[in-house]
Amino acid sequence: MEHIFIEKSSDQPVLVLLHGTGGDEHSLVPIAEHLLPEASILSLRGRVNENGMNRFFKRHAEGEFDLVSLEEETDYLHGEIKELAQKYSLELSKMVLLGYSNGANIGAHLLLTRETPLRLGMFFHVMSLRKLEKVQTMERQQIWLSHGTMDPLVTEENYSQLLHYFNSGGAKVRNFSLPVGHGLHPEEIADAQKWLDSLEG
Ligand code: MLT
Repeated sequence: MEHIFIEKSSDQPVLVLLHGTGGDEHSLVPIAEHLLPEASILSLRGRVNENGMNRFFKRHAEGEFDLVSLEEETDYLHGEIKELAQKYSLELSKMVLLGYSNGANIGAHLLLTRETPLRLGMFFHVMSLRKLEKVQTMERQQIWLSHGTMDPLVTEENYSQLLHYFNSGGAKVRNFSLPVGHGLHPEEIADAQKWLDSLEG
């Protein structure tokens, strides 16, 4: 998988960046560097190409997801993160999956549905991608999520469902909702930074 690794201090969490539709491995680096300037960064590029735009899984139309691609790409992403962690000697349990939009969606799906040593997620403007019969036990997981209450892509109902999935798995969840659309705003970045600073162990 195309990626960049920026090595910094080893006693900080490693930020694993998952961009939104049309982004690439460089898109979220400035935000990551702002959030935790001393943290190493592993940033991945989604391998699906939609009319020239990078994504982490296919879709048929806006909000209509290709669920076969979603499951295949979730496994692929999980495998790549584990391989890259080994390659760069990184601890999976200290990684924070940091995604925006499409990247947040696959990152949240991974934590909800795969058994994994990954336990930290920071998901900006995230949504639930499919109905889940069951979710993983997530008692060790700590998740930060944001939602724009005027987001045309993510309904209140969808976001509540996602919160319910994380809560029912037993994850420690911080939800930051704000009256905006799908774009990133300074208030949520500031709250995300507070959450990162407060992470236990
Ligand atoms: C998705 O496709 O993951 C969501 O609709 C967000 C986006 O437009 O990328």
